[in-house]
Amino acid sequence: MQNPGTTQPQWYSSSSLSFLSSALFRDPKPKPILYTFLIISLFSILLVLSLSSSSPSQTHTRPDPFLYPTHQTHRIIYDQDKTAPPPPSIAYLISGSKGDSGRILRLLFASYHPLNHYLLHLDPSAPHSDRENLALVVQSNPIFKAAQNVHVMGKPDFAYAKGSSPVSFTLHAASILIRLSINWDWFVSLTADSYPLVTQDDLLHILSFLPKDMNFVNHSSYIGWKELRKLKPIIVDPGLYLSEGTEMFYATQKRELPSAYHLFTGSSFSILSRNFMEFCIWGVDNLPRILLMYFSNTPSSLSNYFPTVLCNSRQFNKTVINQDLLYAIYDGHRNDLRALNSTDFDDMIRSGAAFARKFQPDDPMLDLIDQKVLDRSPGLVAPGGWCLGEPGNNTCLTWGDASILRPGVGSQRLEKAIVELLSNGTFRSRQCI
Ligand SMILES: *[C@@H]1O[C@H](CO)[C@@H](O)[C@H](O)[C@H]1NC(C)=O
Ligand SMILES: *[C@@H]1O[C@H](CO)[C@@H](O)[C@H](O)[C@H]1NC(C)=O
Ligand SMILES: *[C@@H]1O[C@H](CO)[C@@H](O)[C@H](O)[C@H]1NC(C)=O
Ligand SMILES: *[C@@H]1O[C@H](CO)[C@@H](O)[C@H](O)[C@H]1NC(C)=O
Ligand SMILES: *[C@@H]1O[C@H](CO)[C@@H](O)[C@H](O)[C@H]1NC(C)=O
Repeated sequence: MQNPGTTQPQWYSSSSLSFLSSALFRDPKPKPILYTFLIISLFSILLVLSLSSSSPSQTHTRPDPFLYPTHQTHRIIYDQDKTAPPPPSIAYLISGSKGDSGRILRLLFASYHPLNHYLLHLDPSAPHSDRENLALVVQSNPIFKAAQNVHVMGKPDFAYAKGSSPVSFTLHAASILIRLSINWDWFVSLTADSYPLVTQDDLLHILSFLPKDMNFVNHSSYIGWKELRKLKPIIVDPGLYLSEGTEMFYATQKRELPSAYHLFTGSSFSILSRNFMEFCIWGVDNLPRILLMYFSNTPSSLSNYFPTVLCNSRQFNKTVINQDLLYAIYDGHRNDLRALNSTDFDDMIRSGAAFARKFQPDDPMLDLIDQKVLDRSPGLVAPGGWCLGEPGNNTCLTWGDASILRPGVGSQRLEKAIVELLSNGTFRSRQCI
């Protein structure tokens, strides 16, 4: 909720304290609050035009104080719900390719919450007009405009899934999100073929009880012949040095596995803590940089980079949970994820996962999730505790305090899954092995 490129507004500086007090003095049913001022936002959406370190285009507006009353210096605090800690915030990167604008928007609506931050990315295969249209749609949405938390990357990055450019792209996007806001806690990168299985109220509610340094990452140090076949080739990813997409370059020679550190394999999806992302991006410690250079010539390095950094770092190896909270089914024959279909629906919901992948575009399963899980109508954001309008209609057009969550049954499924993960300390025995 910080305006990038502008000096930090005053009401912002005490946010951690007001967050804390808002949690201690939280009222489940919001009452009218005394507002000192109301700012009408004019430019809510940033088209982040920078590839390098230059700061994104400036805006001179502030987020809607109705959504973030705790940021105000003068406010009335009501009686309390002492059991619930303050809700955290998630930074989402939502990315897709040519023809994915519709899916990206749908995923944005389905996973939207005013406390979160969203960065949308269409890779270079999509025409620039798609990017502009995406930004226009986002800009014309009154909710996104009020919350000022949805951004579109104006200059796209190449990201070849089979190469190493996705690591560079992911770190670039995370660094933009770090610059955009100082108050998110977890980083989640979603591809256009993913979808949430719980509401954001469910997810934020459950995450609010967890230590903010936890990382949810599938990983293994077991390197069988299959993994060896993937890890030994040397590649050069054109996405890292050519402005036009071309074929990946494979060297004829292969190399040995590293002995200076332990290699960990994993999956390309993960839920990473802000601390850890800053560790990777700031590079004060040399480990993330060394591994970045090593993985730049390794195929599919996004699956392996973060697990390897986490598990080789004394500072972070105890923060990793060997489960990424994503429901996905691997197709052994095609060596890729298989598309989920209606046969998988019950198992998927029962799994207690927070997200699932991968879905065909406009799969009827998505409509089912909207209906049964998210209570979302087509073209609208999934409602949450911040939506105060009449039920049935576009209830989120009347909004209240974004920090008021109304978790539903999804939070019970997710809680059960996480309690199982953490029970008996079994997660310790599965850490970095
Ligand atoms: C974390 O790293 C330290 C030091 O390298 C090591 O002693 C410890 O066993 C590691 N923990 C895990 C869970 O790998
Ligand atoms: C992640 O690990 C869990 C448990 O080890 C497993 O059930 C799940 O299928 C894995 N996810 C992926 C995407 O490999
Ligand atoms: C779903 O996919 C599985 C595996 O590909 C297949 O066996 C099953 O028949 C599919 N079900 C439907 C309803 O398409
Ligand atoms: C929703 O809005 C429409 C048109 O504004 C109206 O006809 C309808 O009665 C409303 N439904 C509810 C449940 O309020
Ligand atoms: C935890 O321990 C209890 C009993 O000691 C056992 O029934 C349960 O299955 C264990 N849970 C896990 C996840 O291992």
